[in-house]
Amino acid sequence: MIDDDKRLAAEAAVAEVSDGMLVGLGTGSTAAYAIAALGRRVSEGLGITAVATSIATEAAARAAGIDVVDFARVAAIDLAIDGADEIDARLFAIKGAGGAMLREKAVASAARRMVVIADGSKHVAAIGRAAVPVEVLPFALSFVVAALERLGAIVIVRDGLTDNSNLIADCRFPTLDDPRTLAAQIDAIPGALGHGLFLDEIDAAYIAHDGVVTRVERAGASG
Ligand code: A5P
Repeated sequence: MIDDDKRLAAEAAVAEVSDGMLVGLGTGSTAAYAIAALGRRVSEGLGITAVATSIATEAAARAAGIDVVDFARVAAIDLAIDGADEIDARLFAIKGAGGAMLREKAVASAARRMVVIADGSKHVAAIGRAAVPVEVLPFALSFVVAALERLGAIVIVRDGLTDNSNLIADCRFPTLDDPRTLAAQIDAIPGALGHGLFLDEIDAAYIAHDGVVTRVERAGASG
């Protein structure tokens, strides 16, 4: 059921893709449905190029027949499509359960339009239940963890490294009443390279619940 909803949300977003676009491809199980749907459209003749937000996504996109270009050579893209761990009516989201949030935020910020795709389980009244992942320069790990704890987080450092060879500190906050202030505080920690709070990047969301897809647009956004 949830997988059907992920697929339906992804297919609705992929319908926004048109010939000639440069598309940002997100990471995770919902984004995988978007990659599959886009691959089908490419096989039917759609001419697009893409940038990938992770090594896994790049491999999946190439396997689906999508032409992937290096984001390092790209300053702006037309449309980014990505999943989320939580999203609310303000189009505030927490991302990064899959560990790709730093690349995802760069691609989302480069996008003229960024759409989140999600099943209904991700739709919350207000973000804050999920852990906020923070990408951490390994050199500064103890310093950054202590700074995050001073912000009120219970911090768990994941095993393994990101695609950027950094660590991830998952931060659980007792409340997330003021995400903008928290985002600014994390941004200000030297050695904290990025985090999963997406507050301004998302223009719209396709959320599927029991087979019904709803599109939510940010006020003033195009589409
Ligand atoms: C990857 O780092 C994340 O930001 C994903 O977009 C997010 O975790 C959603 O993943 P799923 O679609 O697998 O739930």
